[in-house]
Amino acid sequence: MSSSLPSEHRALVLVSRESGFQVRTFPTPQPGPGSAVVRIAAAGILPYHRETYNGKRPMPFPTPLVGGFGAIGHIAAVGTDATVLKAGQLVYVDCVIRSRDDPACVFLSAIYEGSSDGSKKLMRDTWRDGTFAEYAKVPLENCIPLDEPSLCDIQGYSLQDLAYMAFLLVPYGGLRDIKLEPGETIIVCPATGFYGSLGVQVAIAMGARVIALGRNEEKLARLKEDIRSRTPGANIETVKTTGDEEKDVTALQAYGSVDAVLDITPSDAAMSTHTRSAIKALRLGGRVSLMGSTKNIAVPEILVNNLTLKGKMMYEREAILQFVKMLERGLFPQGEHFAETKVFQLDDWKEGFDEGAEHNGIGKCVVFAP
Ligand SMILES: NC(=O)c1ccc[n+]([C@@H]2O[C@H](COP(=O)([O-])OP(=O)(O)OC[C@H]3O[C@@H](n4cnc5c(N)ncnc54)[C@H](OP(=O)(O)O)[C@@H]3O)[C@@H](O)[C@H]2O)c1
Repeated sequence: MSSSLPSEHRALVLVSRESGFQVRTFPTPQPGPGSAVVRIAAAGILPYHRETYNGKRPMPFPTPLVGGFGAIGHIAAVGTDATVLKAGQLVYVDCVIRSRDDPACVFLSAIYEGSSDGSKKLMRDTWRDGTFAEYAKVPLENCIPLDEPSLCDIQGYSLQDLAYMAFLLVPYGGLRDIKLEPGETIIVCPATGFYGSLGVQVAIAMGARVIALGRNEEKLARLKEDIRSRTPGANIETVKTTGDEEKDVTALQAYGSVDAVLDITPSDAAMSTHTRSAIKALRLGGRVSLMGSTKNIAVPEILVNNLTLKGKMMYEREAILQFVKMLERGLFPQGEHFAETKVFQLDDWKEGFDEGAEHNGIGKCVVFAP
């Protein structure tokens, strides 16, 4: 099954955090049972990839390793146990890898080795390398089939633009986990950051009304404009925090009954009162997805209002399949309105990582096209 693979390919290798990246030529990975080899067309660059790999934003992972994140590509070869995936199929390659004999062992390919002995073992010994390469060997279950004629020919997405879905999937994991329904009202806080703003976009695509909570009025206004320019008539309101917890609750409740909260607070804002205000604004029986690093939550309002709080790390495979259905059914902005994508070659890795740190948020995407 691997006869079409070239003998060698190029990959972007982080030799060590101190010495940085090099583009090197390696033997092309070969598929075995439980795996596929994908010809990578576009691999997403995160706003924090640069700092992750240079050690300024410390994340545990082994080196050397081929960098990476979620990617789009065509199956080049599959192991003998593949039953659906075939050479030539367009796929989304996901970065969340779970142990097959213990799903609690989870790590993020090429970014984070996880916290269990099992996840560290799996990343170090078996699935070390990511998608910043011409070819990547990945678990079969991490390849999600995409309907190329529908997405590319009818809806007008380029392969590079499709990599934007890798970013949207993160907040989708939390929104799906708390079963956000069309017509419901959800507070996203803080709404102006990377994952917060994407959370607003995904919640809108799911048919919800969003109250975007943040501390910067100009950024909130820009966010609303970004959303409305891509999704005319989107139900989005904004509330600027004042630092006065109760005042902010009142401002949020001015929009009526609130069903849910997506909290994606970065560690810099761990003690900000926005999470408490958002939770206090919920109706009886409301739900909260905790995806960030808040340390400012109080029990009384959770108890009195019978609230459900759920932590969420990324998402499961079923969530990706569901997300792809949303994309294929046209629930996201079409064609060029989906993403303005900047494309870099592996040799231009420094410029790619720098651009990733700048060009991100709603409708913005940076990729390597190896
Ligand atoms: N659960 C998961 O699977 C998962 C996956 C990925 C990331 N995460 C987590 O998600 C969180 C957010 O990541 P991100 O990349 O979106 O972060 P980010 O872009 O750096 O977040 C910036 C946001 O935080 C606000 N902010 C910063 N400092 C603040 C302060 N002192 N008070 C109030 N607001 C403040 C910013 O407001 P301004 O715009 O006004 O500056 C902006 O809205 C992180 O904790 C990350 O670890 C979780």
